[in-house]
Amino acid sequence: MNAVPRRVENQLTDKGYVPVYTTAVVEQPWDQYAEEDHATWGTLFERQRALLVGRACDEFLAAQDAMGMTPGQIPRFDQLNQALGAATGWQLVGVEGLLPELEFFEHLAHRRFPVTWWIRRPDQIDYIAEPDLFHDLFGHVPLLMNPLFADYMAAYGRGGVKAHGIGPEALAALTRLYWYTVEFGLIRTPQGLRIYGAGIVSSKGESLYSLESDAPNRLGFDLERVMRTRYRIDTFQKTYFVIDSFEQLIQVTAPDFTPIYARLATLATLPAGQVQPNDRVDHRGTGLGWADGGDV
Ligand code: PHE
Ligand code: FE
Repeated sequence: MNAVPRRVENQLTDKGYVPVYTTAVVEQPWDQYAEEDHATWGTLFERQRALLVGRACDEFLAAQDAMGMTPGQIPRFDQLNQALGAATGWQLVGVEGLLPELEFFEHLAHRRFPVTWWIRRPDQIDYIAEPDLFHDLFGHVPLLMNPLFADYMAAYGRGGVKAHGIGPEALAALTRLYWYTVEFGLIRTPQGLRIYGAGIVSSKGESLYSLESDAPNRLGFDLERVMRTRYRIDTFQKTYFVIDSFEQLIQVTAPDFTPIYARLATLATLPAGQVQPNDRVDHRGTGLGWADGGDV
């Protein structure tokens, strides 16, 4: 067992250089977590849960309870896997960090979710650029308990394998869909807008900003619109897309994307913060505090 993350190479992508770790699946070295690691988990868990009641969607909060995620200590993957397997057939696999795209898609297509086994240091509590255990486990895993979202993620994996075979532009379009749903999605509920994106629920600042700030746009979800929209990797999003239900998300993403990729290849991408004439505008952002440039 290797307790230290091993960075094996840096890969140039449309997001700049990203670290690529050894791609092997590793057993979670649970006994090697220090007291400090468990304390980091507990601190982040308590803080986010307090913030997310009334802000995250009910499915997310209920799933965390149902799978037995608690602040006391870092959860054991094999225990979570019992709940997850019974609910939707998903399984967590431990990894050192970001995987090459095709390997990531293949895991998802087979209902395996790669979870970074190590947790951030105490001085990184508020921000860390790369996904760690807290982002992956607290942010992504709960909704895998939900049958609809579980199906969406597996379908996304199959779609990813296909897009990878078509080419980089198809892959970029599919990645934007992931970004604006799985990572930064909002959902409309009878009680108001709620968060379901993992990138938001694992961030204190963005949990507040995405719902309550006047600065960002909140626009109705439209598949091709989303797949054309560039995004931010270094600041809060300029635009959030709002789905009406998980059923809607599954329905609109069910058709074969091959003709959509062909059509999108003829169209320009759209800036992260620009409202378009046909958008359903739930909130038009003031743009206050937005950084110039830097969309990817
Ligand atoms: N239907 C998409 C395709 O044919 C696959 C997909 C499903 C993508 C669900 C994202 C989410 O490529
Ligand atoms: Fe993520």
